[in-house]
Amino acid sequence: MAIDMDQLVSLCKRRGFIFQSSEIYGGINSCWDYGPLGVELKNNIKRLWWQAMVNRQDIEGLDASILMHPKVWEASGHVEGFTDSLVDCKKCKHRFRLDQLTEKKCPDCGGELTEPRQFNLMFKTYMGPVESEANIVYLRPETAQGIYVNFLNVQSTMRHKIPFGIAQIGKAFRNEITPGNFVFRTREFEQMEMQYFVKPGEDKKWFEHWKEERIRWHQSIGLNEKKLRFHEHGKNELAHYAKQAFDIEFEFPFGWNEIEGIHNRGDFDLTRHQKFSGKSLEYFDDQSKEKYTPYVIETSVGADRTLLAVILNAYEEEKEGDEVRSVLRFHTSIAPIKVAFFPLMKKPELQALTHQLQDATRSLFRTRYDESGSIGRRYRRQDEIGTPLCVTVDFDSLEDKAVTVRDRDSMKQERVAIDQLNPYLAQKLGIR
Ligand code: GAP
Repeated sequence: MAIDMDQLVSLCKRRGFIFQSSEIYGGINSCWDYGPLGVELKNNIKRLWWQAMVNRQDIEGLDASILMHPKVWEASGHVEGFTDSLVDCKKCKHRFRLDQLTEKKCPDCGGELTEPRQFNLMFKTYMGPVESEANIVYLRPETAQGIYVNFLNVQSTMRHKIPFGIAQIGKAFRNEITPGNFVFRTREFEQMEMQYFVKPGEDKKWFEHWKEERIRWHQSIGLNEKKLRFHEHGKNELAHYAKQAFDIEFEFPFGWNEIEGIHNRGDFDLTRHQKFSGKSLEYFDDQSKEKYTPYVIETSVGADRTLLAVILNAYEEEKEGDEVRSVLRFHTSIAPIKVAFFPLMKKPELQALTHQLQDATRSLFRTRYDESGSIGRRYRRQDEIGTPLCVTVDFDSLEDKAVTVRDRDSMKQERVAIDQLNPYLAQKLGIR
């Protein structure tokens, strides 16, 4: 059964995935805190992205500063072009994005609207104690610029030849006018971006390559391929830097929407940074003796949007007699908790063996211990947070040196020898 967004927000809170930020003060619009299971899930997504994108010969990692020289944002086009057109209702004072209005009157009260004004989406602050124009700095609205300004630093220190890429994960900030749909559109979010530097003329080939690689990655973390599709940007949708762009979209309860953008940025960014900084960012190919400004193929995915898609994709309700079993069928690689350990009863000898087994597993996988309520109830609790495997220690375990392992998806139970337990769990979880 599909879940709606209100149910999802309450499920994420109840199960310790995501809380409203500053909740005890009434919350702050569009800001969310990742709870114990949410942070595990998000870290798993980020780790898998890093493994896929950086554990290879031709891509290096980077962690650039959030605050950058203000000229970066002039060069990138964000000061001038990263704007939305806004109108206000003269009567009820509500504010709207012009591109989201279908009528010339206020959709809330029918009042007259003001002329559109340009609103820049970058957050501004001041560096140092003086709040003057000269001290303005911006919170980065994308992580990409930290990569462009370090292009030659990485290329020369790591002695890369083109094509090669630079990847990073980090926070980005946008003063969105219409945030919403939970963590789908927020003002503070995390991006996982990779910029691949290629020889001009080879950009189309690499663009196709990265499009395919990236959709495969979304499938590899368990997103249903029927809920994923490409959307090509028309001329009027293209961002100011893009020559060509495809979104990877996921089918959310509120419709198909972007989770990742793949962009051919041409030489826009490097050329602009050369112009604004006065420093050359050209690459010299010492084999062909050519000097050129590389083109960039960018893959840019939101960690928060991916996490939202992952939870929606995993959620299922099943009828079991009179009861409903709700389960999060996370792919084993991203499940926040991999294995739960239960003593059948609260008896010291069972508790001691259960702790011993959990301790022997703790360094391999994220685990949990639970001894309260019936075994059936404890299974349900783990199903609800998506734990793939549960291990139960019973009285027989003390004699036959074996435990029962129950699988979340098939609900089948198997008896496994204790001395084979860790390899068995690793094999079931697909972890070598
Ligand atoms: N550097 C290119 C870039 O930033 P984008 O399409 O504006 O491109 C890339 O953003 C990804 O970042 C999106 O596909 C989305 O997953 C995420 N993202 C963008 N704005 C967001 C927001 N306000 N809240 C959450 N995620 C956002």
